[in-house]
Amino acid sequence: MKGNNSLANEIASLKIKKNAVILAHYYVEEEVQKIADYVGDSYYLSQKAVETKAQIIVFAGVRFMGESAKLLNPDKKVLMPDEKADCAMAHMITVAEIEKMREKYDDLAVVCYINSTAEIKQHSDICVTSSNAVQIVRNMKEKNLFFIPDRNLGSYVAARVPDKNVILNEGYCPVHEKITVSMIQHKKNRLPEALLIAHPECRKEVLELADFVGSTSELIEFVGRNPAKQFLVATETGVFYQMQKQNPDKLFYSVREDQICHDMKRITRKKILEVLENETNEILLDPSFIEGAVKPLERMLGRF
Ligand code: 13P
Ligand code: SF4
Repeated sequence: MKGNNSLANEIASLKIKKNAVILAHYYVEEEVQKIADYVGDSYYLSQKAVETKAQIIVFAGVRFMGESAKLLNPDKKVLMPDEKADCAMAHMITVAEIEKMREKYDDLAVVCYINSTAEIKQHSDICVTSSNAVQIVRNMKEKNLFFIPDRNLGSYVAARVPDKNVILNEGYCPVHEKITVSMIQHKKNRLPEALLIAHPECRKEVLELADFVGSTSELIEFVGRNPAKQFLVATETGVFYQMQKQNPDKLFYSVREDQICHDMKRITRKKILEVLENETNEILLDPSFIEGAVKPLERMLGRF
């Protein structure tokens, strides 16, 4: 079996040979973050997918991330290290539900969290990520906004933009949804000094208790600039690697043992090497919806 160093060396030389770049989300394993060219939140990674000059993008993340990279780079090869790595929430809205809502309101815009399929994006007006959703919703000209698929991020945004009628969908992230107020209270009793920081995919009542709410990058930035020494972290534990690396003198605690996105954890160095070698697991999208699905992403990125 190949050791971690030999895998890293082989990946590095294949990347040069094939003009490839590796993009990784903060939720993937530490060993994968270490060999990536760029590690970040969904917004940052979509920007990097646009900027890259590489011919091959290996996306160490879940399918909607690879699909977004492909939509933004139709002429490039986007490879997924594990084709089963998917986001459950991305499938919690249907085209029929969007169409039904459009029939109900004359003035309706569909605001689509990037954690959604390419097919759903095709039926949406604009995409958002957890780091720009409030600002984008605030700037929409329409009053009625159908926020899909995440009800938790949607209700977080709605509370900050009260002049809009934000209609929520019943989707959620199973990883963040499992974090409850009673678990937080239990942990806080044992860690009275710790600040609670949470991703906006957490339940509303959890967000109400938080000292800071933000996307994965915003949470990582916050723990760096805040003088507190202990943090209770309500998001997937992949962020701990960067938090600890950048702040070796601080302590980070999860609310529960299993704050883990098992789909993100499917990505390994070995699988990255395999897809780079064989150029397998390429994202191929139905050409009939590429043009429509890229528009809301480009609008989010301010490209038109
Ligand atoms: P970020 O926008 O913070 O990267 O969140 C993506 C995600 O999937 C969170 O569950
Ligand atoms: Fe999807 Fe949740 Fe995993 Fe993020 S953590 S990719 S929202 S299932």
